[in-house]
Amino acid sequence: MHATTPVPYRVLARRRETADTVTLDLVPAAGPLRPFRPGQYAMLYAFGTGEIPASVSGISGDTLGHTVRAVGKVSEALCRAERGDWIGARGPYGTVWQTPPAGSDVLIVSGGIGLAPLRPLIEEVLDRAKEFGTISVLAGYRNPGEQLFLADLPRWRSRAHVHVTVDHPEPGWPGATGLVTGLLDSAGYRPDRCAAYLCGPEVMMRATARDLLRRGVPADRIRASLERNMRCATAWCGHCQLGPVLVCRDGPVFGWDHAEGLLSTPER
Ligand SMILES: Cc1cc2nc3c(=O)[nH]c(=O)nc-3n(C[C@H](O)[C@H](O)[C@H](O)COP(=O)(O)OP(=O)(O)OC[C@H]3O[C@@H](n4cnc5c(N)ncnc54)[C@H](O)[C@@H]3O)c2cc1C
Ligand code: FES
Repeated sequence: MHATTPVPYRVLARRRETADTVTLDLVPAAGPLRPFRPGQYAMLYAFGTGEIPASVSGISGDTLGHTVRAVGKVSEALCRAERGDWIGARGPYGTVWQTPPAGSDVLIVSGGIGLAPLRPLIEEVLDRAKEFGTISVLAGYRNPGEQLFLADLPRWRSRAHVHVTVDHPEPGWPGATGLVTGLLDSAGYRPDRCAAYLCGPEVMMRATARDLLRRGVPADRIRASLERNMRCATAWCGHCQLGPVLVCRDGPVFGWDHAEGLLSTPER
């Protein structure tokens, strides 16, 4: 089979996260793809509609979790998939969230659906919590209705500091209000021992990285996931080129020492 031929997966479970976002648990119908690592992505194929990149948001044996926000033709088709439906998948593609060095304080910062690619990293770090110092998860959303993975939060909170902020609170909102950078003071990390992971809109990642650098976190200890429109995911079509890199192959996860320059490169 050609490397870009999708293999069939079946929807084992479908969970609605928000009004426009669902998480699909996918099981291989024949042979599984090679194991995915946190940070990597699959090309998901909605049969008859098209294919899009989607990060893995859950890894459990051969079962892949993907959290998809309906923004257009293909993502809408994937969000409509029901339990038992077929979806094509190929991958794994891309670079990984490198596991933090032992003893690090772990700081995970997301904006909106950016929490999805970080979820497998959160699970891995929590499983190995004894190896690290403080673990903090800071999540920012536009409004409370956009929150993801509400069912995970009690478990995450038992082992990590989890703080959520929204731009537009509703009456009775118990969390913080404002940008996610406003939460950086409440996370108890040591800048020189911190391993930081960022995923979300570029403006949010830039502001967070700038703040962390100012606080003394070295650029090479900050990792960010850069998303670019992709077609082949196999370094063939050039669609995802950003300066000297092909994001589908060299990313999506980059160290900030590299990512900062790439973000100032105009997209082709
Ligand atoms: C490595 C990678 C991982 C991704 N992981 C996820 C994920 O886990 N969950 C998820 O919901 N989405 C993810 N995306 C974004 C997803 O691929 C796009 O939303 C999807 O390609 C849109 O296709 P469409 O046919 O549904 O909509 P289209 O009709 O192609 O586009 C609809 C709108 O979405 C915008 N758009 C298209 N691609 C992107 C993009 N990459 N980022 C932001 N806006 C985009 C378009 O400009 C347009 O305004 C990821 C993208 C990349 C590159
Ligand atoms: S998506 Fe084709 S080269 Fe990257």
